[in-house]
Amino acid sequence: MHSSARVQLIRHGPGARGLRLGLGPGLRPARALKQLQQLLNDHSFWAQGRSLRALGQMLRGSAAAVSLWQGGQLVGFCRASSDGLFRAVVWDVVVAPELQGQGLGRQLVEALLAQPPLRRVERVYLMTSNSAGFYRQLGFEAVGSQQLMLRINMPSGP
Ligand SMILES: CC(C)(COP(=O)(O)OP(=O)(O)OC[C@H]1O[C@@H](n2cnc3c(N)ncnc32)[C@H](O)[C@@H]1OP(=O)(O)O)[C@@H](O)C(=O)NCCC(=O)NCCS
Repeated sequence: MHSSARVQLIRHGPGARGLRLGLGPGLRPARALKQLQQLLNDHSFWAQGRSLRALGQMLRGSAAAVSLWQGGQLVGFCRASSDGLFRAVVWDVVVAPELQGQGLGRQLVEALLAQPPLRRVERVYLMTSNSAGFYRQLGFEAVGSQQLMLRINMPSGP
């Protein structure tokens, strides 16, 4: 259950240090990493069961991220990897179900795409199984001419 407090976007630069340190709006301690773990566990199907250490590593390796807060509650997240020039990939886009359908997902991804590491890249990629319509209205198109290739490694990290 979320309050009626104002919803606020936070734009994180490369490595998302504040989020890794657990900080929320106003750089106040908010157990942000733990909340991110919970958000992904509860509302994603692809990013469940990630440890706090692994999430810290994930953020450290991200070129940009955006988090969405309602008071001290983390209610949305997305991130991207990027070389800053040619290619970027958007990952882990989630808005808490209670707040979906109000344009917040759109604001979240638009804020991510406007971050310096993504703003000028030639191509931004993403993968989706059930939200193509959502990304289409953000300027993404389905690609028929290319195949998604995937190699799965045995887990070796934390
Ligand atoms: C996908 C998700 C991030 C969208 O967030 P949201 O806040 O509900 O999206 P918005 O309210 O900003 O929607 C913007 C537009 O996209 C449309 N849209 C939203 N989700 C959609 C979907 N799954 N399929 C098609 N269109 C969708 C909305 O109807 C809206 O259109 P409108 O402007 O014409 O009314 C959210 O539903 C979510 O977190 N889902 C669970 C996790 C997930 O599947 N993430 C995507 C991983 S690839």
